Amino acid sequence: MCPAFTTGTPAPSNADHIPVLLAEVIAALAPKACGVYLDGTFGAGGYTAALLEAAPCVVWSIDRDPEALLLGEILAERFPGRVHLVQGRFGDMAALLSARGITGIDGVALDLGVSSMQIDDRSRGFSFLRDGPLDMRMEKSGRSAADVVNTLSEKELSDIIFTYGEERHARRVARAIVEARRERPFSRTLRLADVIRAEVRRSQDGIDPATRTFQALRIYVNDELGELERGLLGAEKLLRPGGILAVVSFHSLEDRIVKTFLKARSGSALRPSRHTLASLAGSSATATFKPLSRRPIGPSDGEVAINPRARSARLRIAERTPAPSLTARAGGLA
Ligand SMILES: C[S@@+](CC[C@H](N)C(=O)[O-])C[C@H]1O[C@@H](n2cnc3c(N)ncnc32)[C@H](O)[C@@H]1O
Repeated sequence: MCPAFTTGTPAPSNADHIPVLLAEVIAALAPKACGVYLDGTFGAGGYTAALLEAAPCVVWSIDRDPEALLLGEILAERFPGRVHLVQGRFGDMAALLSARGITGIDGVALDLGVSSMQIDDRSRGFSFLRDGPLDMRMEKSGRSAADVVNTLSEKELSDIIFTYGEERHARRVARAIVEARRERPFSRTLRLADVIRAEVRRSQDGIDPATRTFQALRIYVNDELGELERGLLGAEKLLRPGGILAVVSFHSLEDRIVKTFLKARSGSALRPSRHTLASLAGSSATATFKPLSRRPIGPSDGEVAINPRARSARLRIAERTPAPSLTARAGGLA
């Protein structure tokens, strides 16, 4: 049954995190009465709150960080029965929702990466500006960044730093890390940042030399690109015809994955692969998504002035077609 439209008490503001491209994401999803939406990256709840405020809809909110979801309790009280908080990964969205009886939804929003709260909390170990344990695990479990830098081979570290950080000096940085850990293992963020800064000079645009290596380690520790690929497949499975996918990415590695997926799934570039049945590929009749903008949408100058973190944000939106998901057609292989 469609929920009553409760707006409750005014929203508690979270001064730490300003949602990026919020107006654009909500306009794309165009929440409707009785609609069911998934916010796969709850964070500080900016998108979830805006969806709940825009229409008498229901929102399923996922975050892999148990701390993020604590904030969600406030929204759950404010919008009784309309917001469901789920700790888990958006890469598992189809399984997480179907286990709760939800198999079709009207919109999916993904706002990739880490939140300002995670970066600003030195105890989480994401920042190269504040000293803290070298952790970087969004979920607070599994292999930490310290485990990675202290145990992988020089070649493995170099590949990670080059691939996920697009760091030209990856080999030099990896060599310096391996030399420094012989002296003593890494446990703190600032020691790692200092070792990197000793190897890589600050670029003319003033970007801290540790930026790219820290990004690489964060992506690797949290398998962020694998999550994105699985999340896109999950959205394809869950979205009803006419449902909207909105993905905000923050660097070219992420945006490339979204762009390539939508191209492949929009009919223009459907080709047989080892994962798809040849008979299903190559026709626009089998396309599962229709991109709604040719180019990614970026922030306005006004948004960047208020929130510099929005500078590199890129939003891609697409509408789900009635065609069955490729996973369903390929017998679960895609
Ligand atoms: C950029 S913030 C989202 C901010 C949110 N849109 C808002 O308005 O407050 C990203 C959040 O997504 C979470 N996250 C990142 N990858 C995830 C994944 N694969 N599954 C679930 N949550 C994820 C992070 O823990 C973080 O809280």
